[in-house]
Amino acid sequence: MKDELRLLKSLTGPFPAFDTDLAPDEPRELFSDWLRDAIEAGVKEPHSMVLSTVDENGAPDARVLILKNLDHRGWHFATTGNGPKGRQIALNPSVALSFYWPALGRQVRLRGMALQAEVHERDADFRARAPGAKAVALVARQSEVLGSPRDLEDAIAHQYRRLQEEPDLVAPSWALFIVMPHEVEFWQGDSERRHHRLRYKREKAGWIREQLWP
Ligand SMILES: Cc1cc2nc3c(=O)[nH]c(=O)nc-3n(C[C@H](O)[C@H](O)[C@H](O)COP(=O)(O)O)c2cc1C
Repeated sequence: MKDELRLLKSLTGPFPAFDTDLAPDEPRELFSDWLRDAIEAGVKEPHSMVLSTVDENGAPDARVLILKNLDHRGWHFATTGNGPKGRQIALNPSVALSFYWPALGRQVRLRGMALQAEVHERDADFRARAPGAKAVALVARQSEVLGSPRDLEDAIAHQYRRLQEEPDLVAPSWALFIVMPHEVEFWQGDSERRHHRLRYKREKAGWIREQLWP
């Protein structure tokens, strides 16, 4: 495997320039620009991100999720709230988010606190889901050990029937979280490894910006 890995290329570019002096005052604005660039560049699933949490023993955990929204409060994601990540966040709301857009050689890292959105926002998110996704979410057993595939099929079929009778149903376990960052780093890769890094830190008076060594 070592030789196979050595043959693989990474960060070959060409990549966009990143003039950190022109960066906006708020990280959200720069993030929106970079996400739109990723969409335009045809990056597959540019709204996917890694959410890192810590469990009750302080051990890290991470998984890929979809970014559902971005507003003045922060970065939104939705999930079954009673699963592992929901329980971890309830015990310790400190989380990290990581995005990577390979075609542009760009990474964004955020660290902050995950808070629950308002119930009406959570409900609206659930109601916007496709019927199949609603049925699976209503099962609400994400990450439990599955005894047999038949159990899953039966549970989903049961929830489909419930949804037909009550189309407005919202899974009580559904959760919409908002990550409010206190630190956001924008990393623009360079094929010569002279990467450009800009970190925003939230201070009382607003965001400060600092460049980091590659
Ligand atoms: C591209 C992609 C998108 C995903 N989006 C979500 C999502 O938005 N919400 C979610 O709960 N799980 C999503 N998952 C599944 C999670 O990675 C994970 O398996 C699941 O949430 C269970 O995580 P947990 O056991 O740590 O709670 C996604 C996985 C992939 C690969």
